Amino acid sequence: MVPGAAIFAWERTSAAWLHGGRATSGLVRTRSLGKTGLEVTELALGTWGLSGDAYGPVAREDAEKVVARAVELGVTLFETSDAYGRGAAEEILCAQLAASPDAVVVTKLGTDRASEPARKRFDPAWLREAAARSAERLGRAPVALLHNPTASAVSLGEATGALAELAASGTLRSWGVSAGDADVARAALAAGAPVLEVAYNAFHVADLHPLTAAIAEAGAGLLARSVLAHGLLAGMWRIDRVFAEHDHRSQRWAKDELRTRIMQLGALRPLVSKDVLTLRAVALRFVLANDLVSSAVIGPRSVMQLEQLAREAGKGPPYLLDAALARLPDDLERLGLAW
Ligand SMILES: NC(=O)c1ccc[n+]([C@@H]2O[C@H](COP(=O)([O-])OP(=O)(O)OC[C@H]3O[C@@H](n4cnc5c(N)ncnc54)[C@H](OP(=O)(O)O)[C@@H]3O)[C@@H](O)[C@H]2O)c1
Repeated sequence: MVPGAAIFAWERTSAAWLHGGRATSGLVRTRSLGKTGLEVTELALGTWGLSGDAYGPVAREDAEKVVARAVELGVTLFETSDAYGRGAAEEILCAQLAASPDAVVVTKLGTDRASEPARKRFDPAWLREAAARSAERLGRAPVALLHNPTASAVSLGEATGALAELAASGTLRSWGVSAGDADVARAALAAGAPVLEVAYNAFHVADLHPLTAAIAEAGAGLLARSVLAHGLLAGMWRIDRVFAEHDHRSQRWAKDELRTRIMQLGALRPLVSKDVLTLRAVALRFVLANDLVSSAVIGPRSVMQLEQLAREAGKGPPYLLDAALARLPDDLERLGLAW
């Protein structure tokens, strides 16, 4: 485990919640978002799936219910993008968080969906306009991240400089980079990004583990996304699972690769225990067990999925048994997945 700045403030979990009933609040374990001065819940609600852009349509009303339930459960960190649903995800957050002035919204900028086809833009003038539009749509100053820039777009310094200025002026609460690989994340740290977002899960550690020391040294807040590897790690798919055409997963894995990945889930099974009952819980707790992570950005597409994840995050550390966790790299390697 990486020593980090995690602060656990488990305040209350009702017996009803522990026993699977509905509680009106309770999930208030928080961690520092690096040096931003923000305290955030260790689960953040991501909204890509709710926007319908990623996995297929979700009725607006259902997306609203998921956000509302997250608020009830005590989640205070919400992750979105101006591109999700062409701004609709930000609008939903604005409405559902109206009575939660302390909630922190992390949005992402850098995709111009008004142009046809959509294109990436990281020029300062466009970023300033995009930040103002997002702040208005959200009804609050967000934390804004560059959305999947290249390493060279980050290293150039213009885009990061623009967001840093917006943060200094109060248009943004803080800024950072959502990185698609370790090189981009490295460039973001070199540019002094206070917040970094990367894909991180039990099958994909390559964007984070090589940067462990650098992130700790920089004191950057770290958001971990895709903690279930787009659903794979929940361990609920048949070996011949087929995805609809509009689902991004139809392009992600070839048939044989998906079959292999499902077989590799066997490496996670030794981590299931009397307190960690499902592979989904293993996957989520794997991410939370890393002290470097400020918040795991979960992607439920229904209230039921949200409640499962909130419940299975557990009562706090230790999230997983250290001995079983230590064996995971070898177990995965035996099944053909080297970290
Ligand atoms: N570049 C970026 O900045 C970037 C990229 C990716 C994601 N993100 C953010 O991170 C968030 C999460 O990313 P992700 O979608 O990759 O997350 P994920 O958690 O790895 O995958 C989400 C999928 O997992 C399945 N799932 C969720 N809860 C479940 C549950 N309780 N039981 C079983 N399956 C469950 C759902 O699949 P089914 O739909 O099949 O039920 C859902 O669509 C996104 O919403 C987005 O906000 C950002």
